[in-house]
Amino acid sequence: MASQQEIADFLKRAQTKLNETSAGVFFQRNNARLLPSFDRGSEDSDEKNSKEEFKLGETLGRGAFCEVREITAIMLKRPTDAKDPFASSLILPLPKETRNSDRDITNTDEGEFPTNLFQSKDEIRKYMSENFMRKDDDGLGNHPRYALKQVKMVNMKQVETGLIDLSLEAKFLSCLNHPNIIKLRGVAGEPLSPNFGLVLDRLYMTLKDQIDAWTAEKKVANGTGLCACLFGSVDTHAISSLIFSATTVAYDLSCALRHIHSLNLVYRDIKPENAGFDVRGDLKLFDMGFCKELTNKIHDEQSGMYKLTQLTGSPPYMAPENFLGKPYGKPVDVFSFGVLFWEMLHCKLAFYGYKFREYQMRVVEGNYRPPINESLTSRVQELIKECWAPDPKKRPTFDRICLSLRAEHGELANEHGEDQGGITRSIRLANKSVRSFRIHAKRRSSIEMSEHGQFEH
Ligand SMILES: Nc1ncnc2c1ncn2[C@@H]1O[C@H](COP(=O)(O)OP(=O)(O)O)[C@@H](O)[C@H]1O
Ligand SMILES: [Mg+2]
Repeated sequence: MASQQEIADFLKRAQTKLNETSAGVFFQRNNARLLPSFDRGSEDSDEKNSKEEFKLGETLGRGAFCEVREITAIMLKRPTDAKDPFASSLILPLPKETRNSDRDITNTDEGEFPTNLFQSKDEIRKYMSENFMRKDDDGLGNHPRYALKQVKMVNMKQVETGLIDLSLEAKFLSCLNHPNIIKLRGVAGEPLSPNFGLVLDRLYMTLKDQIDAWTAEKKVANGTGLCACLFGSVDTHAISSLIFSATTVAYDLSCALRHIHSLNLVYRDIKPENAGFDVRGDLKLFDMGFCKELTNKIHDEQSGMYKLTQLTGSPPYMAPENFLGKPYGKPVDVFSFGVLFWEMLHCKLAFYGYKFREYQMRVVEGNYRPPINESLTSRVQELIKECWAPDPKKRPTFDRICLSLRAEHGELANEHGEDQGGITRSIRLANKSVRSFRIHAKRRSSIEMSEHGQFEH
Protein backbone atom coordinates (compact mmCIF):
# COMPACT_ATOMS: atom_id res chain seq x y z
CA MET A 1 0.00 0.00 0.00
CA ALA A 2 1.39 3.41 -0.96
CA SER A 3 1.18 6.27 1.58
CA GLN A 4 -0.60 9.57 0.82
CA GLN A 5 2.79 11.24 0.49
CA GLU A 6 4.04 8.62 -1.99
CA ILE A 7 0.90 9.03 -4.08
CA ALA A 8 1.26 12.82 -4.04
CA ASP A 9 4.92 12.55 -5.12
CA PHE A 10 4.01 10.16 -7.90
CA LEU A 11 1.25 12.47 -9.20
CA LYS A 12 3.71 15.36 -9.22
CA ARG A 13 6.27 13.37 -11.22
CA ALA A 14 3.57 12.20 -13.63
CA GLN A 15 2.30 15.74 -14.18
CA THR A 16 5.81 17.01 -14.91
CA LYS A 17 6.32 14.26 -17.49
CA LEU A 18 2.91 14.82 -19.08
CA ASN A 19 3.50 18.59 -19.20
CA GLU A 20 6.90 18.07 -20.82
CA THR A 21 5.35 15.83 -23.45
CA SER A 22 2.65 18.36 -24.26
CA ALA A 23 5.16 21.19 -24.64
CA GLY A 24 5.89 20.66 -28.35
CA VAL A 25 3.73 21.78 -31.25
CA PHE A 26 2.21 18.35 -31.97
CA PHE A 27 -0.63 18.71 -29.47
CA GLN A 28 -1.31 22.30 -30.51
CA ARG A 29 -1.48 21.48 -34.19
CA ASN A 30 -3.36 18.20 -34.12
CA ASN A 31 -6.96 17.98 -33.14
CA ALA A 32 -7.94 15.41 -30.51
CA ARG A 33 -10.88 13.14 -31.26
CA LEU A 34 -13.96 13.22 -29.05
CA LEU A 35 -13.31 10.40 -26.56
CA PRO A 36 -15.74 9.07 -23.98
CA SER A 37 -14.67 7.82 -20.56
CA PHE A 38 -15.94 4.79 -18.68
CA ASP A 39 -16.01 4.19 -14.94
CA ARG A 40 -14.17 1.34 -13.27
CA GLY A 41 -15.06 -0.25 -9.96
CA SER A 42 -12.75 -0.95 -7.08
CA GLU A 43 -11.87 -4.54 -6.33
CA ASP A 44 -13.55 -4.60 -2.94
CA SER A 45 -16.99 -3.30 -3.94
CA ASP A 46 -19.68 -5.90 -4.67
CA GLU A 47 -21.13 -6.16 -8.15
CA LYS A 48 -24.42 -4.43 -7.35
CA ASN A 49 -22.86 -1.32 -5.84
CA SER A 50 -19.81 -1.23 -8.08
CA LYS A 51 -19.29 1.60 -10.54
CA GLU A 52 -17.61 -0.87 -12.91
CA GLU A 53 -18.93 -0.37 -16.45
CA PHE A 54 -16.94 -3.20 -18.09
CA LYS A 55 -17.01 -6.92 -17.99
CA LEU A 56 -13.59 -8.21 -18.99
CA GLY A 57 -12.92 -11.49 -20.77
CA GLU A 58 -9.77 -13.33 -21.75
CA THR A 59 -6.29 -11.81 -21.71
CA LEU A 60 -5.28 -11.09 -25.29
CA GLY A 61 -1.64 -10.30 -24.64
CA ARG A 62 0.93 -8.91 -22.26
CA GLY A 63 3.84 -6.54 -22.77
CA ALA A 64 6.56 -5.42 -20.40
CA PHE A 65 4.26 -3.16 -18.34
CA CYS A 66 0.74 -3.70 -19.61
CA GLU A 67 -1.83 -6.36 -20.26
CA VAL A 68 -4.69 -6.28 -22.74
CA ARG A 69 -8.04 -7.97 -22.12
CA GLU A 70 -11.15 -8.20 -24.24
CA ILE A 71 -14.22 -6.27 -23.13
CA THR A 72 -17.11 -8.71 -23.16
CA ALA A 73 -19.81 -6.28 -21.96
CA ILE A 74 -20.27 -2.53 -21.40
CA MET A 75 -22.96 -1.68 -18.83
CA LEU A 76 -23.42 2.08 -18.42
CA LYS A 77 -23.88 3.15 -14.81
CA ARG A 78 -22.88 6.80 -14.72
CA PRO A 79 -25.90 9.05 -15.38
CA THR A 80 -25.60 11.29 -18.45
CA ASP A 81 -25.45 14.48 -16.39
CA ALA A 82 -22.73 13.20 -14.02
CA LYS A 83 -19.26 14.74 -14.08
CA ASP A 84 -16.89 13.21 -16.61
CA PRO A 85 -13.64 12.43 -14.73
CA PHE A 86 -11.68 13.33 -17.87
CA ALA A 87 -13.36 16.67 -18.51
CA SER A 88 -10.38 18.64 -17.22
CA SER A 89 -7.78 15.92 -17.32
CA LEU A 90 -4.15 16.51 -18.11
CA ILE A 91 -4.09 13.27 -20.01
CA LEU A 92 -6.41 13.94 -22.91
CA PRO A 93 -6.06 17.04 -25.05
CA LEU A 94 -9.48 18.64 -25.47
CA PRO A 95 -11.09 18.53 -28.93
CA LYS A 96 -10.60 21.97 -30.46
CA GLU A 97 -13.80 22.44 -32.38
CA THR A 98 -17.41 21.40 -32.14
CA ARG A 99 -17.72 18.72 -34.70
CA ASN A 100 -20.13 16.51 -36.55
CA SER A 101 -22.65 19.16 -37.48
CA ASP A 102 -23.82 17.29 -40.55
CA ARG A 103 -24.43 13.92 -38.85
CA ASP A 104 -23.56 11.83 -41.86
CA ILE A 105 -24.44 8.33 -40.70
CA THR A 106 -22.82 6.70 -43.71
CA ASN A 107 -19.40 7.98 -42.70
CA THR A 108 -17.87 5.17 -40.67
CA ASP A 109 -14.16 4.86 -40.06
CA GLU A 110 -12.25 1.70 -40.89
CA GLY A 111 -13.32 0.15 -37.58
CA GLU A 112 -16.99 0.44 -38.59
CA PHE A 113 -17.36 3.24 -36.06
CA PRO A 114 -19.86 5.88 -37.25
CA THR A 115 -17.68 8.83 -36.16
CA ASN A 116 -19.87 11.50 -37.68
CA LEU A 117 -22.95 10.34 -35.84
CA PHE A 118 -21.90 11.67 -32.47
CA GLN A 119 -22.29 15.10 -30.90
CA SER A 120 -21.25 14.23 -27.36
CA LYS A 121 -19.25 11.75 -25.32
CA ASP A 122 -22.50 10.39 -23.88
CA GLU A 123 -23.74 9.50 -27.36
CA ILE A 124 -20.53 7.55 -27.98
CA ARG A 125 -20.85 5.78 -24.60
CA LYS A 126 -24.39 4.75 -25.51
CA TYR A 127 -23.36 3.55 -28.98
CA MET A 128 -20.47 1.50 -27.58
CA SER A 129 -22.63 -0.06 -24.86
CA GLU A 130 -25.12 -1.18 -27.52
CA ASN A 131 -22.52 -2.41 -30.01
CA PHE A 132 -19.76 -4.01 -27.96
CA MET A 133 -20.18 -7.35 -29.76
CA ARG A 134 -19.69 -8.04 -33.46
CA LYS A 135 -21.68 -10.77 -35.17
CA ASP A 136 -19.47 -13.31 -36.83
CA ASP A 137 -20.33 -13.60 -40.54
CA ASP A 138 -19.96 -17.35 -40.64
CA GLY A 139 -22.33 -17.84 -37.72
CA LEU A 140 -19.72 -19.21 -35.31
CA GLY A 141 -20.69 -16.77 -32.57
CA ASN A 142 -20.02 -13.16 -31.62
CA HIS A 143 -16.72 -11.42 -30.90
CA PRO A 144 -16.02 -8.45 -28.64
CA ARG A 145 -15.22 -5.29 -30.62
CA TYR A 146 -13.11 -3.62 -27.94
CA ALA A 147 -10.11 -4.39 -25.77
CA LEU A 148 -8.85 -2.74 -22.57
CA LYS A 149 -5.16 -2.01 -22.08
CA GLN A 150 -4.17 -1.47 -18.45
CA VAL A 151 -1.00 -1.72 -16.37
CA LYS A 152 0.09 -5.06 -14.93
CA MET A 153 0.21 -5.14 -11.16
CA VAL A 154 3.83 -6.16 -10.65
CA ASN A 155 5.66 -3.81 -8.32
CA MET A 156 5.22 -0.14 -7.41
CA LYS A 157 8.02 1.10 -9.65
CA GLN A 158 6.69 -0.77 -12.70
CA VAL A 159 3.10 0.33 -12.04
CA GLU A 160 4.25 3.96 -11.85
CA THR A 161 6.22 3.76 -15.10
CA GLY A 162 3.35 1.86 -16.74
CA LEU A 163 0.76 4.45 -15.69
CA ILE A 164 2.79 7.37 -17.00
CA ASP A 165 3.54 5.59 -20.30
CA LEU A 166 -0.12 4.61 -20.67
CA SER A 167 -1.20 8.21 -20.14
CA LEU A 168 1.30 9.40 -22.74
CA GLU A 169 0.03 6.72 -25.10
CA ALA A 170 -3.55 7.96 -24.58
CA LYS A 171 -2.42 11.49 -25.42
CA PHE A 172 -0.73 10.48 -28.66
CA LEU A 173 -3.45 8.06 -29.78
CA SER A 174 -6.20 10.62 -29.22
CA CYS A 175 -4.57 12.80 -31.90
CA LEU A 176 -3.46 10.12 -34.36
CA ASN A 177 -5.75 9.31 -37.23
CA HIS A 178 -4.49 6.87 -39.82
CA PRO A 179 -6.01 3.66 -41.23
CA ASN A 180 -2.93 1.64 -40.19
CA ILE A 181 -2.74 2.95 -36.62
CA ILE A 182 -4.98 1.50 -33.90
CA LYS A 183 -7.94 3.66 -32.89
CA LEU A 184 -8.37 4.71 -29.28
CA ARG A 185 -12.14 4.60 -28.63
CA GLY A 186 -12.18 5.82 -25.05
CA VAL A 187 -10.47 5.84 -21.68
CA ALA A 188 -11.44 4.14 -18.45
CA GLY A 189 -10.93 4.61 -14.72
CA GLU A 190 -9.46 7.52 -12.81
CA PRO A 191 -6.51 9.11 -14.62
CA LEU A 192 -3.17 7.88 -13.21
CA SER A 193 -4.86 5.36 -10.89
CA PRO A 194 -4.13 1.60 -11.10
CA ASN A 195 -7.46 0.90 -12.82
CA PHE A 196 -6.82 3.45 -15.59
CA GLY A 197 -7.08 1.92 -19.04
CA LEU A 198 -7.32 2.55 -22.77
CA VAL A 199 -10.29 1.27 -24.76
CA LEU A 200 -9.00 0.13 -28.14
CA ASP A 201 -10.39 -1.68 -31.16
CA ARG A 202 -9.83 -5.35 -30.55
CA LEU A 203 -7.30 -6.98 -32.87
CA TYR A 204 -7.40 -10.62 -33.91
CA MET A 205 -3.76 -11.53 -34.23
CA THR A 206 -0.40 -9.84 -33.93
CA LEU A 207 2.22 -9.59 -36.66
CA LYS A 208 4.21 -12.08 -34.61
CA ASP A 209 1.32 -14.59 -34.90
CA GLN A 210 1.20 -13.86 -38.64
CA ILE A 211 4.94 -14.48 -39.08
CA ASP A 212 4.54 -17.77 -37.17
CA ALA A 213 1.70 -18.74 -39.52
CA TRP A 214 3.83 -17.80 -42.58
CA THR A 215 6.71 -19.87 -41.15
CA ALA A 216 4.46 -22.94 -40.95
CA GLU A 217 3.15 -22.34 -44.49
CA LYS A 218 6.70 -21.87 -45.79
CA LYS A 219 7.80 -25.13 -44.23
CA VAL A 220 5.06 -26.99 -46.10
CA ALA A 221 5.81 -25.15 -49.36
CA ASN A 222 9.55 -25.85 -49.06
CA GLY A 223 9.13 -29.55 -48.86
CA THR A 224 9.57 -30.14 -45.16
CA GLY A 225 5.85 -30.72 -44.61
CA LEU A 226 4.08 -34.04 -44.96
CA CYS A 227 2.65 -33.34 -48.46
CA ALA A 228 5.98 -32.27 -49.84
CA CYS A 229 7.74 -35.28 -48.29
CA LEU A 230 5.26 -37.52 -50.06
CA PHE A 231 5.35 -35.70 -53.40
CA GLY A 232 8.82 -34.20 -53.13
CA SER A 233 8.35 -30.75 -54.69
CA VAL A 234 8.80 -27.12 -53.71
CA ASP A 235 5.60 -25.15 -54.14
CA THR A 236 6.98 -21.99 -55.80
CA HIS A 237 3.54 -20.45 -56.15
CA ALA A 238 2.96 -20.75 -52.39
CA ILE A 239 6.38 -19.21 -51.67
CA SER A 240 5.80 -16.24 -53.98
CA SER A 241 2.37 -15.78 -52.45
CA LEU A 242 4.00 -15.54 -49.00
CA ILE A 243 6.44 -12.91 -50.29
CA PHE A 244 3.50 -10.98 -51.73
CA SER A 245 1.63 -11.07 -48.38
CA ALA A 246 4.76 -9.96 -46.47
CA THR A 247 5.35 -7.10 -48.93
CA THR A 248 1.72 -5.98 -48.58
CA VAL A 249 1.93 -5.95 -44.79
CA ALA A 250 5.32 -4.16 -44.88
CA TYR A 251 3.82 -1.51 -47.17
CA ASP A 252 0.92 -0.88 -44.76
CA LEU A 253 3.33 -0.68 -41.84
CA SER A 254 5.54 1.78 -43.70
CA CYS A 255 2.48 3.98 -44.39
CA ALA A 256 1.73 4.10 -40.64
CA LEU A 257 5.34 5.07 -39.92
CA ARG A 258 5.47 7.63 -42.72
CA HIS A 259 2.44 9.28 -41.07
CA ILE A 260 4.08 9.23 -37.61
CA HIS A 261 7.32 10.72 -38.97
CA SER A 262 5.42 13.37 -40.96
CA LEU A 263 4.12 14.65 -37.60
CA ASN A 264 7.69 14.90 -36.34
CA LEU A 265 7.22 11.97 -33.97
CA VAL A 266 9.49 8.98 -33.53
CA TYR A 267 7.93 5.60 -32.61
CA ARG A 268 10.97 3.73 -31.17
CA ASP A 269 9.51 0.25 -30.61
CA ILE A 270 8.93 -1.43 -33.97
CA LYS A 271 8.69 -5.19 -33.48
CA PRO A 272 6.22 -7.92 -34.48
CA GLU A 273 4.47 -7.85 -31.08
CA ASN A 274 3.47 -4.20 -31.61
CA ALA A 275 1.49 -4.57 -34.82
CA GLY A 276 -1.58 -6.65 -35.50
CA PHE A 277 -4.60 -7.20 -37.71
CA ASP A 278 -8.18 -6.14 -37.26
CA VAL A 279 -11.23 -8.22 -38.12
CA ARG A 280 -10.79 -7.37 -41.80
CA GLY A 281 -7.15 -8.36 -41.87
CA ASP A 282 -5.91 -4.77 -42.13
CA LEU A 283 -2.65 -4.01 -40.42
CA LYS A 284 -2.69 -1.74 -37.34
CA LEU A 285 0.35 -0.41 -35.51
CA PHE A 286 -0.28 -0.09 -31.77
CA ASP A 287 1.63 0.51 -28.49
CA MET A 288 2.63 4.18 -28.58
CA GLY A 289 4.30 3.84 -25.16
CA PHE A 290 7.68 5.02 -26.49
CA CYS A 291 6.39 7.58 -28.98
CA LYS A 292 8.11 10.96 -28.66
CA GLU A 293 7.94 14.34 -30.34
CA LEU A 294 11.23 15.61 -31.77
CA THR A 295 11.21 19.16 -30.42
CA ASN A 296 13.79 21.93 -30.70
CA LYS A 297 14.44 21.63 -26.99
CA ILE A 298 16.07 18.21 -27.40
CA HIS A 299 17.74 18.98 -30.74
CA ASP A 300 21.49 18.33 -30.86
CA GLU A 301 23.12 20.97 -33.08
CA GLN A 302 26.27 19.02 -33.74
CA SER A 303 24.74 15.79 -35.02
CA GLY A 304 21.44 17.19 -36.29
CA MET A 305 19.73 14.47 -34.24
CA TYR A 306 17.99 14.55 -30.84
CA LYS A 307 18.99 13.91 -27.24
CA LEU A 308 16.82 10.94 -26.38
CA THR A 309 16.95 8.15 -23.81
CA GLN A 310 19.49 5.42 -24.54
CA LEU A 311 18.32 1.80 -25.01
CA THR A 312 14.67 2.70 -25.65
CA GLY A 313 12.73 -0.08 -27.37
CA SER A 314 13.44 -3.75 -27.92
CA PRO A 315 17.10 -4.67 -28.42
CA PRO A 316 16.93 -7.14 -31.33
CA TYR A 317 15.39 -4.31 -33.39
CA MET A 318 17.41 -1.49 -31.84
CA ALA A 319 19.52 0.80 -33.99
CA PRO A 320 23.23 1.06 -33.02
CA GLU A 321 23.03 4.79 -32.20
CA ASN A 322 20.14 4.15 -29.77
CA PHE A 323 22.00 1.21 -28.22
CA LEU A 324 25.16 3.28 -27.74
CA GLY A 325 23.44 6.37 -26.29
CA LYS A 326 24.33 8.73 -29.14
CA PRO A 327 21.84 11.40 -30.22
CA TYR A 328 19.28 9.79 -32.52
CA GLY A 329 16.03 10.43 -34.41
CA LYS A 330 13.71 9.06 -37.10
CA PRO A 331 16.37 6.73 -38.64
CA VAL A 332 16.10 4.42 -35.58
CA ASP A 333 12.61 3.43 -36.76
CA VAL A 334 13.96 2.76 -40.26
CA PHE A 335 16.61 0.41 -38.83
CA SER A 336 13.99 -1.55 -36.83
CA PHE A 337 11.71 -1.67 -39.88
CA GLY A 338 14.56 -3.12 -41.97
CA VAL A 339 15.16 -5.92 -39.43
CA LEU A 340 11.44 -6.66 -39.20
CA PHE A 341 10.98 -6.64 -42.99
CA TRP A 342 13.85 -9.12 -43.33
CA GLU A 343 12.17 -11.36 -40.71
CA MET A 344 8.82 -11.17 -42.51
CA LEU A 345 10.40 -12.23 -45.80
CA HIS A 346 12.65 -14.96 -44.37
CA CYS A 347 10.29 -16.24 -41.65
CA LYS A 348 13.16 -16.24 -39.14
CA LEU A 349 14.41 -14.03 -36.33
CA ALA A 350 17.29 -11.91 -37.58
CA PHE A 351 19.30 -12.10 -34.35
CA TYR A 352 17.96 -15.30 -32.84
CA GLY A 353 19.22 -16.15 -29.36
CA TYR A 354 21.53 -13.12 -29.12
CA LYS A 355 22.26 -11.98 -25.61
CA PHE A 356 22.98 -8.34 -24.75
CA ARG A 357 26.78 -8.53 -25.12
CA GLU A 358 26.57 -10.60 -28.30
CA TYR A 359 24.22 -8.07 -29.91
CA GLN A 360 26.57 -5.28 -28.95
CA MET A 361 29.67 -7.03 -30.27
CA ARG A 362 28.27 -8.52 -33.46
CA VAL A 363 25.48 -6.20 -34.59
CA VAL A 364 26.30 -2.81 -33.05
CA GLU A 365 30.09 -2.88 -33.22
CA GLY A 366 30.74 -5.61 -35.81
CA ASN A 367 27.96 -4.50 -38.24
CA TYR A 368 26.85 -8.09 -38.77
CA ARG A 369 23.53 -8.52 -40.61
CA PRO A 370 22.02 -11.87 -41.69
CA PRO A 371 22.30 -12.78 -45.40
CA ILE A 372 19.45 -11.68 -47.66
CA ASN A 373 17.86 -14.33 -49.87
CA GLU A 374 19.14 -13.72 -53.41
CA SER A 375 15.89 -14.81 -55.00
CA LEU A 376 14.28 -11.60 -53.71
CA THR A 377 14.16 -8.74 -56.22
CA SER A 378 17.16 -6.41 -56.25
CA ARG A 379 14.84 -3.55 -55.20
CA VAL A 380 13.90 -5.39 -51.99
CA GLN A 381 17.47 -6.54 -51.31
CA GLU A 382 18.77 -2.97 -51.67
CA LEU A 383 15.98 -1.56 -49.54
CA ILE A 384 16.73 -3.88 -46.62
CA LYS A 385 20.48 -3.13 -46.85
CA GLU A 386 19.84 0.61 -46.82
CA CYS A 387 17.35 0.40 -43.93
CA TRP A 388 19.75 -1.40 -41.59
CA ALA A 389 22.85 0.56 -42.66
CA PRO A 390 25.12 1.31 -39.66
CA ASP A 391 25.19 5.01 -40.56
CA PRO A 392 21.77 6.53 -39.83
CA LYS A 393 22.32 9.19 -42.55
CA LYS A 394 22.50 6.46 -45.20
CA ARG A 395 19.07 5.02 -44.29
CA PRO A 396 16.07 5.97 -46.47
CA THR A 397 13.11 7.99 -45.18
CA PHE A 398 9.68 6.36 -44.89
CA ASP A 399 8.55 8.48 -47.87
CA ARG A 400 11.06 6.62 -49.98
CA ILE A 401 10.37 3.23 -48.36
CA CYS A 402 6.64 3.62 -49.11
CA LEU A 403 7.33 4.52 -52.74
CA SER A 404 9.68 1.58 -53.18
CA LEU A 405 7.29 -0.90 -51.55
CA ARG A 406 4.39 0.43 -53.55
CA ALA A 407 6.27 -0.18 -56.78
CA GLU A 408 7.24 -3.66 -55.57
CA HIS A 409 3.67 -4.42 -54.52
CA GLY A 410 2.33 -3.26 -57.88
CA GLU A 411 4.67 -5.56 -59.80
CA LEU A 412 3.92 -8.54 -57.56
CA ALA A 413 0.19 -7.84 -57.82
CA ASN A 414 0.44 -7.98 -61.61
CA GLU A 415 2.27 -11.30 -61.44
CA HIS A 416 -0.36 -12.67 -59.09
CA GLY A 417 -3.22 -11.26 -61.15
CA GLU A 418 -4.44 -9.44 -58.03
CA ASP A 419 -6.37 -6.22 -57.73
CA GLN A 420 -3.85 -3.52 -56.78
CA GLY A 421 -6.53 -1.56 -54.96
CA GLY A 422 -6.16 -4.00 -52.12
CA ILE A 423 -9.72 -5.34 -52.03
CA THR A 424 -8.67 -8.87 -52.85
CA ARG A 425 -5.83 -8.55 -50.36
CA SER A 426 -8.11 -7.46 -47.54
CA ILE A 427 -10.48 -10.34 -48.08
CA ARG A 428 -7.62 -12.83 -48.34
CA LEU A 429 -5.87 -11.54 -45.25
CA ALA A 430 -9.14 -11.26 -43.33
CA ASN A 431 -9.93 -14.89 -44.01
CA LYS A 432 -6.47 -15.86 -42.86
CA SER A 433 -6.62 -13.64 -39.78
CA VAL A 434 -9.94 -14.94 -38.59
CA ARG A 435 -8.86 -18.51 -39.21
CA SER A 436 -5.58 -18.04 -37.35
CA PHE A 437 -7.26 -16.01 -34.65
CA ARG A 438 -9.46 -18.96 -33.80
CA ILE A 439 -6.48 -21.26 -33.60
CA HIS A 440 -4.63 -18.76 -31.42
CA ALA A 441 -7.66 -18.07 -29.26
CA LYS A 442 -7.74 -21.75 -28.33
CA ARG A 443 -4.08 -21.74 -27.44
CA ARG A 444 -4.31 -18.55 -25.41
CA SER A 445 -5.55 -20.08 -22.19
CA SER A 446 -1.99 -20.15 -20.92
CA ILE A 447 -0.38 -16.95 -22.18
CA GLU A 448 3.27 -16.58 -21.58
CA MET A 449 5.17 -13.43 -22.15
CA SER A 450 6.91 -13.57 -25.45
CA GLU A 451 10.65 -14.02 -25.19
CA HIS A 452 11.06 -12.51 -28.60
CA GLY A 453 12.24 -8.96 -28.26
CA GLN A 454 13.80 -9.41 -24.84
CA PHE A 455 17.47 -9.85 -24.05
CA GLU A 456 18.73 -12.15 -21.36
CA HIS A 457 21.31 -10.08 -19.52
N1 LIG B 1 -6.11 -3.92 -29.41
C1 LIG B 1 -5.64 -5.14 -29.14
N2 LIG B 1 -6.34 -6.25 -29.42
C2 LIG B 1 -5.86 -7.48 -29.14
N3 LIG B 1 -4.67 -7.71 -28.57
C3 LIG B 1 -3.91 -6.65 -28.26
C4 LIG B 1 -4.34 -5.32 -28.52
N4 LIG B 1 -3.37 -4.46 -28.12
C5 LIG B 1 -2.39 -5.23 -27.61
N5 LIG B 1 -2.68 -6.54 -27.69
C6 LIG B 1 -1.85 -7.66 -27.23
O1 LIG B 1 -1.27 -7.30 -25.98
C7 LIG B 1 0.18 -7.27 -26.09
C8 LIG B 1 0.71 -6.12 -25.25
O2 LIG B 1 0.18 -4.89 -25.72
P1 LIG B 1 1.09 -3.60 -25.89
O3 LIG B 1 0.20 -2.46 -26.27
O4 LIG B 1 2.20 -3.89 -26.83
O5 LIG B 1 1.62 -3.44 -24.39
P2 LIG B 1 3.06 -2.98 -23.81
O6 LIG B 1 3.03 -1.49 -23.87
O7 LIG B 1 3.11 -3.48 -22.40
O8 LIG B 1 4.11 -3.60 -24.69
C9 LIG B 1 0.45 -7.15 -27.58
O9 LIG B 1 1.69 -7.69 -27.95
C10 LIG B 1 -0.70 -7.96 -28.18
O10 LIG B 1 -0.42 -9.34 -28.10
MG1 LIG C 1 4.26 -3.70 -26.76
